[in-house]
Amino acid sequence: MITNRKHLLGLEGMTSEEITRLLDTAESFKEVSERPVKKVPALRGTTIANLFFEASTRTRISFELAEKRLSADSVNFTVSGSSVSKGETLRDTAENIQAMKVDMIVIRHSAAGAPHFLASLLEASVVNAGDGAHEHPTQGLLDMFTLRERWGNFDDKKVVIVGDLAHSRVARSNIHGLVTMGVEVVVCGPPTLIPIDIERLGVSVETDLRKALEDADAVNVLRIQKERQAAGLFPSIDEYARVWGVNSRVLERAKPDCVVMHPGPMNRGVEIAHDVADGERSVILDQVTNGVAVRMAVLYLCSGGAAIESTEETEAAEAKAAKGKQVA
Ligand code: CP
Repeated sequence: MITNRKHLLGLEGMTSEEITRLLDTAESFKEVSERPVKKVPALRGTTIANLFFEASTRTRISFELAEKRLSADSVNFTVSGSSVSKGETLRDTAENIQAMKVDMIVIRHSAAGAPHFLASLLEASVVNAGDGAHEHPTQGLLDMFTLRERWGNFDDKKVVIVGDLAHSRVARSNIHGLVTMGVEVVVCGPPTLIPIDIERLGVSVETDLRKALEDADAVNVLRIQKERQAAGLFPSIDEYARVWGVNSRVLERAKPDCVVMHPGPMNRGVEIAHDVADGERSVILDQVTNGVAVRMAVLYLCSGGAAIESTEETEAAEAKAAKGKQVA
């Protein structure tokens, strides 16, 4: 159960019950962001440090908002202006932050395994906000939350993930989560950007986007990192857009109600056409909205909060948390 997890390092190995409990808890927290006063006392007294060693817009703001809406105290760290620029190691930075009695650490780092390293080293709970090409578990969860919100459940669904599978932490977390929930996952992209053994994760491979999209219920479009072209992994941006770009023509192959997702930031006109990004099938901004609720649930559960399944239970938990703080 997620309630027993102190850290969220990845979706690999998480059970369907844990994922469901997490999504149910996020559903309860989503309502908080609709209130005039967008705040509950659930994490009052908890201190959280957001350590972003890599650029981020959505994830960083989303975690910060989630922390504020849970009444946590949070501090933000970015490499520029920190002692990392003077050569301080990750270990020393993290140990110094913990010495200031931080309870939870949210970390994004270019090195796969950096959150696991901190989790083995520190007393604080660690939440992975993206580690190299390994995992981006809260993105995977918010993508699943968005799909479940549309569909009600994951029964008999097919999701296509298209793009750079080899370097995508978003893809890896989505694959682990969706396969666990029983979803059929098809991956698609240039053969040079698909790991040769990816089928062992429970997905099938189809390099022809038209075939991959046959009867798809959702397509998750990955950002193409333009530096991969310089590395010779595909011939040109124009060719990528022509062969693997998701546009309204190719979407005709999918189910009429197929939803289009993108984790951002988007390269409009490359992996996704403008009209698709802004069209009625797009749930891209819903993903961003849902990210706050999902991160509230992750922080709450990793801090030891009991899982919540309904709004009444949210209110009861809030009342209990508020009473506990008064007593303390
Ligand atoms: N989806 C995502 O991780 O976006 P950011 O890099 O802006 O956080």
